[in-house]
Amino acid sequence: MSPVRGRLIALEGIDGCGKSTQARILAAHLGAVRTFEPGATPLGSALRALVLDPGAVPLSDRAEALLLAADRAQHVAQVIEPALAAGRWVVTDRYSASTLAYQGYGRGLDRGELESLVAWATSGLRPDLTVLLDLPVAVAAARRHGGRPDRMESEAGDFHQRVADGFRTLAAATADPWLVVDASGPVDAVAGSIRAAVDALDGSDGDPGGVR
Ligand code: TYD
Repeated sequence: MSPVRGRLIALEGIDGCGKSTQARILAAHLGAVRTFEPGATPLGSALRALVLDPGAVPLSDRAEALLLAADRAQHVAQVIEPALAAGRWVVTDRYSASTLAYQGYGRGLDRGELESLVAWATSGLRPDLTVLLDLPVAVAAARRHGGRPDRMESEAGDFHQRVADGFRTLAAATADPWLVVDASGPVDAVAGSIRAAVDALDGSDGDPGGVR
C-alpha cells in the first residue's frame, strides 16, 4: 500500500527575514525533509552560482527567471516530489512565490507569464501552505550579516521594497493557503505561530482552517 502523501510547506520573504532559522525549527518539529531554493540539487548548485554570484556572467531578467525555473524543476523532480510520494513532509526555504515576488514585482516581468512558467516547471505542484515572514525592508537589511552581498542583495532599496510589497500582494490575492507572520517578534514567538498553522494542516484534508 502506498503511504499517505506528505505535505509541502514553503517559507517565503525578503532576504534577512529569518526564513532559514524558521525552516530549521519547523522541519525539526515535523520531522520533515528540509530543503531550499535555489541550489538544493547538483544542477541547482551550478545554477545558483550563475544567478547569485556577484562576479557571474551578465544575465537578462528573462534568463534569470528561466534559470530559477530550471532549478525548481530539478528540485521538484529530484527532491520534493519523491519525498512527498514517500509520505514525508517537506519544508522548503523559498519556492514559486519567490519567482513571482523577485522576478515579477522586483524585476517587472509579467506576473501571468511567470505563473505559467512556474506551473510548468513544477508540473503544477503547489504548496499546502506558504508562510510569509513579513518584515520591514530596513529591519531585514540591518539583520543581514556582513560578507559580500550576492546579486539580489546588491540591488537598490526600492527593488527590495517592491519585492516585500509583492509578497504581501501575493499573500492577499491568491486562492492558495498563505499564513502571514510578523517576523519582527522573537524567534520562539514566530516559530509558535508557524507551528500552530502547520499543525492545523495535519490530519486535515488540506484546508488549513483559519490560515489565510
Ligand atoms: P536565499 O538562499 O534565501 O538567500 P541567502 O541564503 O543569501 O539568505 O535566496 C537566494 C536569493 O535568490 C534571494 O535573494 C532571492 C533570490 N530568488 C529569486 O530571485 N527568485 C527565486 O525564484 C528564488 C527561489 C530565489
